[in-house]
Amino acid sequence: MCAASYDRVVRGALARVWENVFDWEHLPWVHPESFSGVELLERGSWGWKARVQLAGEGSREATIELRADRAQSRYVSATVEGPGSGTEIWTELGARGDAHTAVRVEFWLPEPSARAGVSPEAAMQRLRSIGARLRETYVRLWDQDEAMIQERSRALERRREAPLGGAGRVREAGQILADLGPESLLRARLPLEFELAGERFRLTEHAAGWRAYSLQCPHRLGPLRCSSERAEELVCPWHGYRFDGRTGESLDGHRLALRAARLELDPATGHLLAYPAASPASQRPSSPDLNASRLD
Ligand code: FES
Ligand SMILES: [Fe+2]
Repeated sequence: MCAASYDRVVRGALARVWENVFDWEHLPWVHPESFSGVELLERGSWGWKARVQLAGEGSREATIELRADRAQSRYVSATVEGPGSGTEIWTELGARGDAHTAVRVEFWLPEPSARAGVSPEAAMQRLRSIGARLRETYVRLWDQDEAMIQERSRALERRREAPLGGAGRVREAGQILADLGPESLLRARLPLEFELAGERFRLTEHAAGWRAYSLQCPHRLGPLRCSSERAEELVCPWHGYRFDGRTGESLDGHRLALRAARLELDPATGHLLAYPAASPASQRPSSPDLNASRLD
């Protein structure tokens, strides 16, 4: 039976919402109150199936299968094993212009079986209270997804506009650059973050010289942050990929690397100048549907 429903309009284009629906990997990173881990079992154009660790006390696991029907603009997420087994959450999506998506969620729970000492009214009441809790959880989950969707949309927009838009100075030749100031004063300001053609970069100095790597994750453009545990490690809050802030290389085996800015010392002024540079040759999407450079 349908124990509850939830309607909202998400501030994000339908294409971005579908991308989020197929993104099994973000669950423990973007929704840590609900999930503490995820392991993919299968996936395809039909959807995905994953084993998830549920956050909270104990180490409870569940298997979730998400099946999408894009032609009908809907999908169902079913708990096929573990706590809540038999629950099906049906979601319908509808584009509202270019930038919004209407979402309707229905929480279908297995019919209560007759149990000695439990009245049908009490059983129904219990289902309704589970439905209300699920609804509350989904308000939070969609708030978190919406924040991620919006940030990714902005990042894609900035990439579309670069190098014409964004911060940075335009040189006579039409070249975008960021003037980081006198090289002699930079060491005291490291690691220095700056903006170049709409993208955040981070300047550091090593034996081999100055390096500036993008703080935009090459996976799906998440905002990289410095790890609280290891110096010079950058971590993405969306799927947890890790990068070396000194070399831009992946620290967890993904075939991805951070974009580097081209740095030059201006001999006339002694200022360090940063220019946008092409993506590193080693940068490849880890899978076709997670291609960060696809501007759809
Ligand atoms: S966007 Fe996926 S790990 Fe950064
Ligand atoms: Fe999500």
